[in-house]
Amino acid sequence: MSFVKLLLNICLLGTFLQEIHGQGMMITPVSRSSAWRFGFPVEQNFNDDDVSCGGDTQFFQNHGKCGECGDDYAAVRPRPNENGGIYGTGVIVKKSNFTMKVKVKLTTNNLGTFKFHVCPLNQTNSLETEECFNKYPIILSDYDNLLSYMYQIPNFQTTFNIEIQLPRISCKHCVFRWTYETTRDLYGRQRIFRNCADITIV
Ligand SMILES: *[C@@H]1O[C@H](CO)[C@@H](O)[C@H](O)[C@H]1NC(C)=O
Ligand SMILES: *[C@@H]1O[C@H](CO)[C@@H](O)[C@H](O)[C@H]1NC(C)=O
Repeated sequence: MSFVKLLLNICLLGTFLQEIHGQGMMITPVSRSSAWRFGFPVEQNFNDDDVSCGGDTQFFQNHGKCGECGDDYAAVRPRPNENGGIYGTGVIVKKSNFTMKVKVKLTTNNLGTFKFHVCPLNQTNSLETEECFNKYPIILSDYDNLLSYMYQIPNFQTTFNIEIQLPRISCKHCVFRWTYETTRDLYGRQRIFRNCADITIV
């Protein structure tokens, strides 16, 4: 192979690999950005499978930080996917007891892990915080990940039904959060996708 050809192939491979990154969304409970697809009276986000901390911005400008609900960290709060933001209008999409089946759909599966958290909001306008989510990590009651806080993506399937255990709190307005951390890309970065959904826990 000539040097030029080799170089060209490397360039093509680079472009190809850059385009493979995980994408997806939480279907149950349906995320704020996707709720319109299920008839909820909310703003439509057509890029609802790509709520990913601002994409490359996360690494180039925000030192790896990500908004509480998956927005560009540099945006002013409430960010678009947060309570009070464009997509975060507080419309409750699910009422659940302490066991819940979460459904996630990936449009591109790049392996990695899922984690779930919940945060009770105590006032209509209060903002989700990392401190609050960290107080309520979600434990899995899923067969292969029993009592774990982390769901390891086992293969290249695209739809996931995961049984989880909600914390023993009841709340009229709780924020349920899905975090997808992909495996490392060529540059050693792990992309993060995050969705928040508004639920009631009884
Ligand atoms: C919780 O809700 C699910 C789904 O509605 C139901 O199947 C289950 O029996 C409920 N569990 C309890 C303890 O109420
Ligand atoms: C709401 O109240 C609960 C219980 O005191 C607390 O754990 C949680 O952090 C509060 N939520 C926020 C967003 O501060």
